[in-house]
Amino acid sequence: MGVEDGAIPLTSSSTLVAPPRRIIRAEALSWLAHNPAPPRSSVITSIPTLTEVEGMDLAAWRAWTIATARTILAWTPPEGVAIFYQSDLRIGGVWIDKGYLILRAIEDAGASLVWHKIVCRQPPGTPTFGRSSYSHMICAAKSERPPPRSASPDVLPDAGFMPWSKAMGATACALACSYLREETETETVIDPFCGNGTALAVANSFGFAAIGVDKSPRRCKAARKLTLG
Ligand SMILES: C[S@@+](CC[C@H](N)C(=O)[O-])C[C@H]1O[C@@H](n2cnc3c(N)ncnc32)[C@H](O)[C@@H]1O
Repeated sequence: MGVEDGAIPLTSSSTLVAPPRRIIRAEALSWLAHNPAPPRSSVITSIPTLTEVEGMDLAAWRAWTIATARTILAWTPPEGVAIFYQSDLRIGGVWIDKGYLILRAIEDAGASLVWHKIVCRQPPGTPTFGRSSYSHMICAAKSERPPPRSASPDVLPDAGFMPWSKAMGATACALACSYLREETETETVIDPFCGNGTALAVANSFGFAAIGVDKSPRRCKAARKLTLG
């Protein structure tokens, strides 16, 4: 399923071949349904927000978000983890806690919460109106994982470079990839809602192969090209 929209080999010199990045233009849930997870793969993703999906009211989007997180958890192989990066927002007078929606999915799936970190998108203390100044970064696995071998921050003071307004921060992606490298046997990182491909570019820089899916041709094009300094 989907259109192969990405350049596969990234050759940076005659002696060094960068890990591969595949970008596929497709509807994410359909692609997941037709493509089993590669062995030793993990997911890093941001499930789209209400304004990015068509034809859903708030209640439908909340239910879809929980169901999508469950689908991703079910798809992730037992040796891998699924890392969700989600930013809360206010709609009218209602605060939408996306971290809660992911935690609901983890509970409903009987999966294991591995860690929950807070990533600052603005300096702490910055007044905001509608969009949270933080993001949740939540890691889940099908079953309980061994305790971590290394310490890592629970609160990241700066999300890092963001290629566009809805992107993950590159520093946050690097924290997620450090976890994958130190604490798991991950070889491939998959982002089924890859946007401009921040998680994929960071994953490549850690030596992981990367697969991204997005329904937008524009985002696929950007994800194919993204390199991080
Ligand atoms: C929050 S953005 C992801 C941003 C990304 N993490 C980055 O760093 O650029 C969500 C993405 O999901 C895509 N999207 C929305 N609904 C989708 C669907 N049903 N299937 C595939 N992609 C979808 C949008 O085009 C958008 O690029």
